[in-house]
Amino acid sequence: MKTEYIELDENRIDPDVIRRAGAVLREGGLVAFPTETVYGLGGDALNPESSRKIYAAKGRPQDNPLIVHICRMEDLAPITEEIPEEGYALAEAFWPGPLTMIFNKSILVPKETTGGLSTVAVRFPSNRIAAELIRAAGGYIAAPSANASGRPSPTLGRHCLEDLDGKVEMILDGGPVGIGLESTIIDLTSEVPTILRPGYVTQEMLEQVLGSVEIDRTILGEDSSLPPKAPGMKYRHYAPRGELVIVEGDAERVIEYINGACREYAGRGCRTGVICTDETASRYRADLVRSAGSRSDEESVARCLFRILREFDEEGAQFMFSESFDRAGLGQAVMNRLMKAAGHRVVKV
Ligand code: TXA
Ligand code: MG
Repeated sequence: MKTEYIELDENRIDPDVIRRAGAVLREGGLVAFPTETVYGLGGDALNPESSRKIYAAKGRPQDNPLIVHICRMEDLAPITEEIPEEGYALAEAFWPGPLTMIFNKSILVPKETTGGLSTVAVRFPSNRIAAELIRAAGGYIAAPSANASGRPSPTLGRHCLEDLDGKVEMILDGGPVGIGLESTIIDLTSEVPTILRPGYVTQEMLEQVLGSVEIDRTILGEDSSLPPKAPGMKYRHYAPRGELVIVEGDAERVIEYINGACREYAGRGCRTGVICTDETASRYRADLVRSAGSRSDEESVARCLFRILREFDEEGAQFMFSESFDRAGLGQAVMNRLMKAAGHRVVKV
């Protein structure tokens, strides 16, 4: 299949491109597109054949359900069984935006889209290209992140091309995404609303609307004996090709440890990489030193993380080290992704 790659400006969207991309989706084809979190790999959510194609293009296990993307509040009721009060309150506060809610599904949503589950994950993205595409496709786009399974989620159009060239009809490049980590997922079908994946909408923000909110303990990495409730969280996601280790502790000792380890690997002829911050970048001696921004700017760290992991792959880094980040607020999502990328390897110094 020849993949068509088209650049779009979110502020001046070419309606002809959206019409053509919408037609591809209605006919059962696949289109990668930008959202405010990461790029998505879209297919018609109500067409089981499209969902099968998504799994094949990503090389994704079929038991890992897809998120259904909508662009109008009135499109929520037809795909859900009932919408609890919490759903309306959260929609009012955070939609359109980087929050995914899980409801009981209606019969309109095929099992292929939900990986066999009787629940459906729904998201209403704020990116304007995404919104126009969803409308043009008929209202419902199933979209996982547009990476090949196991690779870091795409934050640039060309990341989609790297992973999906020849496997999808179209890629819409809308420039760099704003957030850089996937949406927060909250399950509204459990007794107490439960966060299944941390993201830009933090636990604190959700608690301000709902009062109490639980967090699936498996995502904190504290108990690996339990399976996570979001099936996708069990896979080794966001993984770079080399070995990544997180180094935690006093800044000076972290620098000393990482430099020592890099020296040793360099001596064995291995290529090394460091994920650090503006405050410390000049202190590291490694083949690849990448700052994710200022330590005080959590949003920058979130935005840069996946791009840096992909750069390390491109540059052939074999051993990588990352500074650790504060787990409060958005830091919970950053550390969740970083821990997964590192396969939970942490050194405390
Ligand atoms: O920001 C995002 O959410 C991006 C953009 C493209 O919207 N999408 C995304 O999709 O991250 P994906 O497929 O990479 O991650 C979806 C996660 C998976 O871990 C999946 O297991 C979980 O959501 N999920 C989907 N439906 C679910 C359900 N009904 N119950 C529990 N978990 C569900
Ligand atoms: Mg994903």
